Amino acid sequence: MSSKQDYLNKINELDLGSNQPKTLDSSDFFLVAEERRSVRQYDPTFELSMEEIEEILTIATKAPSSSNLQPWRFLVIQEQELKEKLLPIANNQKQVTDASAVIAVLGDLEAYKKAEDIYGDIVKSGKMTKEVKDFYVSSIYENYSHLSEEQATKVAMVDGGLVSMQLMLAAKAKGLDTVPMGGFKHDEFIKAFHVPETFKPVMLIALGKGTQEGFEKYRLPLNEVVTWNTF
Ligand SMILES: Cc1cc2nc3c(=O)[nH]c(=O)nc-3n(C[C@H](O)[C@H](O)[C@H](O)COP(=O)(O)O)c2cc1C
Repeated sequence: MSSKQDYLNKINELDLGSNQPKTLDSSDFFLVAEERRSVRQYDPTFELSMEEIEEILTIATKAPSSSNLQPWRFLVIQEQELKEKLLPIANNQKQVTDASAVIAVLGDLEAYKKAEDIYGDIVKSGKMTKEVKDFYVSSIYENYSHLSEEQATKVAMVDGGLVSMQLMLAAKAKGLDTVPMGGFKHDEFIKAFHVPETFKPVMLIALGKGTQEGFEKYRLPLNEVVTWNTF
């Protein structure tokens, strides 16, 4: 049985020809979703500014989340030295050092502590009364502060997955490429990058200018994955 690293290296060695990832003329949602691929080869000289990355993160954070608590936190790793530090932790996946940035999507298990800020802001904008806000915030504290670590992690992973997907689609719409990565040593990552104790890694996302398209999407036919009305 091959190791996770062997498997990940094999993915990188696949001969996909020399086609570059498709550049889209339009950011039509259906086209973006159809054409996004996991891209593993990047132009190492291509740089992204903080503003460009923030534009993608801003639209990504419009994703829905449980009680709008937005438990996602992002660590944007752009410095080459730090990407090199991450490389062995991420099973030597070359996209880690070649992509312009690696974004670690993290889930904050104590995201409920920001409920007052989130709902208070809606009161300030006049869209919610203080009474309704107080009710919301106290219900959130009641429901979320008593969750077990496992339950809170589950919430953070679901919401973290949604924001990750939105990030990858936003990048594609902007003419960039991504690959999500679960193949990394979580404990080593936490230690090496001083991740706060309540933040759980959801995934890493390499972001940059792809030089080789990802392989053809195969998807199971709908009749194998969809059941109508009841099992
Ligand atoms: C949670 C998650 C973890 C993944 N981990 C890795 C990874 O570590 N390395 C990698 O090369 N691809 C990784 N992938 C990418 C998948 O292999 C890819 O999404 C899948 O083959 C479908 O291809 P597509 O993204 O081009 O549609 C991961 C995808 C997801 C959603």
